This record gives sequence, structure tokens and C-alpha cells, in this order.
Amino acid sequence: MARRRQIYEGKAKIIFEGPEPGTVVQYFKDDATAGNGAKSGVITGKGVLNNRISEYLMQRLGEMGIPTHFIRSLNMREQLVREVEIIPLEVVVRNVVAGSLSKRFGLPEGERLPRTLVEYYYKNDELNDPLISEEHIATFGWAHPQELEEIQSLALRVNDFLCGLFTGVGITLVDFKLEFGRLWQGDEMRIVLADEISPDNCRLWDSRTQEKMDKDRFRRDMGGVGEAYQEVARRLGILPEHGQGENVAAEGV
Ligand SMILES: Nc1ncnc2c1ncn2[C@@H]1O[C@H](COP(=O)(O)OP(=O)(O)OP(=O)(O)O)[C@@H](O)[C@H]1O
Ligand SMILES: [Mg+2]
Repeated sequence: MARRRQIYEGKAKIIFEGPEPGTVVQYFKDDATAGNGAKSGVITGKGVLNNRISEYLMQRLGEMGIPTHFIRSLNMREQLVREVEIIPLEVVVRNVVAGSLSKRFGLPEGERLPRTLVEYYYKNDELNDPLISEEHIATFGWAHPQELEEIQSLALRVNDFLCGLFTGVGITLVDFKLEFGRLWQGDEMRIVLADEISPDNCRLWDSRTQEKMDKDRFRRDMGGVGEAYQEVARRLGILPEHGQGENVAAEGV
């Protein structure tokens, strides 16, 4: 089949034109970056795992009434999603202190927050995705106050559901980043969950050993990155079957 027209190549995914209007294909790469591209590498098999993990989580969230962009899986590295107008915010939900929150406020990593914290970052690589407040969002018109209310409420519902899901498989959901988009249906607009939910943008710690099972292993040169992602998929019960030959799926379809 002729290759679809590429719309955008990001650090972790390529976006292709979809087969129907209003759809796009997300192709999950093995490329990994950290520190806004300061560090880069390849984690063999990451794209396959993230495609599968994100598909699974978006589907489960959809069943819980959270609107998402996910339509269907196409093959081991690609999924069909609804094309949305991405709201330029990185919505970070935190349950436990880690990463930049620990640095910014001098708090020890691993301390549980007294309540769930939702933070907003302006999605702009050139500016290094700066932390912003609701006032910036309203002032610069990145989202209407009503949209932001919807985004915050969805983010908290996603957190509640995912916390439970991961707890059930012995994983602590420390924090994660979400992206939302506007989905137009005629004159109606809905806010939907977009992008991906995977160990690339979640902090996942083994509940018993506190071992990291996410991209921090790459950021901090800890090794065993692919194995950790695989273990997350295994615990979720969604590990792709052995010997299926992803090349066949990725290139033949
Ligand atoms: N349903 C969707 N419709 C349109 N664009 C989407 C959709 N879901 C995700 N995207 C966008 O597609 C891109 C995915 O690529 P990737 O995650 O590799 O980007 P990135 O390198 O993180 O860069 P950035 O997110 O800063 O553009 C992102 O820009 C994301 O916002
Ligand atoms: Mg991204």
C-alpha cells in the first residue's frame, strides 16, 4: 500500500493522514528523548509497547465515559484516532512528589501529596514548556475558562480511574501528562483526551519495591528501559504475543 501522507513528525510519534476525513494515524516510534531533546536514543520495541498500552488505557477510559480520540488499532505500531485541534497545554496530574516538582520546591521524591495536584505547562518546545497558571491560559486565550474547567475535571477523573487500575497490578501512579483537543462535530465542540498515555509520559513505580517502570529509567541512565515498559504491559495483561513478527504487521498492512 502506498505510504500515507505524513502530517507531522514529533519526537515519539509520526502523524499520518487518516483513511477518512477527520482522522489521523499515530505511528509510534522507538525514539526516545529527554530534556526537550537534549538527550536522545532508541529503545527497541518501545513503539509497539506504547501503542498497545495507550490503546488499552484509552479504551478503558472510554468505557468509563471519558471521551478520547481513539478509534481503533491498525497494527502493532499504528492506531487510528480522531483528528483534533490540540489545546497547547501539557496537563500534569501528580499524586506523589517527583521530577520537576521535587526540584522546584525542594521536596523529597516519593512523598505523597496531601491532595492531587493539577499543573499546566504551555506546550512550546522553544520555550521549554514553561509552567503556567490558569491566568496565563485565560489571558493568552489558550483555552476558555469553561474549557479549562472541563479539562481539569476530565484530568481528575482520568487520575481516579488510572490510580485504581494501576494499584490493582501493583503499580503506583506517581504522575502523568495529558493532552486534550477540540473535536468539532458540526457546530458542536467537545473536549477529548488526545495524544497518548504510556510509560513515556507517566511515572509508574512498583508499589512494593518503588522501582521505576517508566521513562525516568532512560532520563537517568538506569538501563532496563524496554524491560520496564514490557513489565507494565505484562501486568496490564496486554503483552503482544510472542513471535508475531511486528515487521509483517507494520509493513504489510
Ligand atoms: N488526535 C490528534 N489529532 C491531532 N494531533 C494530535 C492528536 N493526538 C496527538 N497529536 C499531536 O501529535 C503529535 C505527536 O507527536 P509526538 O508525541 O512525537 O510529539 P512531540 O515530539 O512530543 O512534540 P510536541 O508534542 O511538542 O508537538 C503531538 O504534537 C501531539 O500533540
Ligand atoms: Mg509527545
